[in-house]
Amino acid sequence: MISENVFIASNYAISIHEGSFQWSAPSNIALVKYWGKKDKQIPANPSISFTLNNCKTITKMGFAKKENDGNFSFDLLFEGKPKEDFKPKIQKFFERIFDYCPYLTAFHFTIDTENTFPHSSGIASSASGMAALAMNVMSLERELNPSMNDEYFYKKASFLSRLGSGSACRSVKGEVVVWGNHAEISGSSDLFGVEFPSNVHENFKSYQDTILLVDKGEKQVSSTVGHDLMFGHPFAEQRFEQAHENLSKMKTVLENGDVENFIKIVESEALTLHAMMMTSMPYFILMKPNTLEIINKIWKFRNETQIPVCFTLDAGANVHVLYPQNVKEKVLQFIKSELVGYCQNGQYICDEIGIGAQSI
Ligand code: PMV
Repeated sequence: MISENVFIASNYAISIHEGSFQWSAPSNIALVKYWGKKDKQIPANPSISFTLNNCKTITKMGFAKKENDGNFSFDLLFEGKPKEDFKPKIQKFFERIFDYCPYLTAFHFTIDTENTFPHSSGIASSASGMAALAMNVMSLERELNPSMNDEYFYKKASFLSRLGSGSACRSVKGEVVVWGNHAEISGSSDLFGVEFPSNVHENFKSYQDTILLVDKGEKQVSSTVGHDLMFGHPFAEQRFEQAHENLSKMKTVLENGDVENFIKIVESEALTLHAMMMTSMPYFILMKPNTLEIINKIWKFRNETQIPVCFTLDAGANVHVLYPQNVKEKVLQFIKSELVGYCQNGQYICDEIGIGAQSI
């Protein structure tokens, strides 16, 4: 097993003075959900996700050498304009990764970030945002240590992303990513995400995800508070065990192309995530009436047409509609005629499986 000590950078001589990098990193959608964590963003159970393609954060990081006084120094811009309220998150991220990246205090950074999806769409930007920032940090580290190989580069990028926001570690590399130790997934780790190691069946190639924006408001429960609700939760242990079992089943399904069982696992995982919130103390209902309307319409459409379309949810009211590419036109037709009316201002985002972070 890899120890986190392998990610501690040496005290490099700072031989570079200034420059900049730019990376994009996508969001991801979990099929088996991460909900509950231990200290230092260690997941209580393993999870697996599809990497998205269109919902991305693009972050440019300029750096200039400064006196190393042990303090972090950075300016934060959102869409080119200073954004003070994002700074504490970045400060916290730098503090969390400092043990692994001691060179950070030797530079002043200018971080300019933007999302391809609409601001306050209810789509969390923490996964894509933290992954994009971690990629830039790793580009800087590679400048300081040019002998670093690609495997280490991406592993540590995922490791750092995880310290920013757990699920961000699944946004770095690969179309299907596993995070968390699982007995049947070789190389899987609690410390970083790994590409699903088996061949993914043709049926799941280019899978589509249309995100229906049911409620674009602020999250009712932050994910930090949400994860904490799993401490002392009456069903926590059973849930963590179930996630292991569902990941075993999902592994088989992704290998053999069994779309019917894929749907069962994915929908059950989404409802279980929400059931955990409904049965915690305090309790929450994060679905909205329109979330349920959409779910029922999807079930009816699937029954009537036998088209293998299903839904999943994150910790909010928006619905991710998942389906194979070969039924795209029919499903989009169905979404436009029957589901758009349940979306806020009729808004939805068409996305599909992507490959992860890209240097720009
Ligand atoms: O990465 P966090 O702490 O925002 O947690 C995200 C958890 C879910 O999105 C609800 C599930 C998942 O596995 O992505």
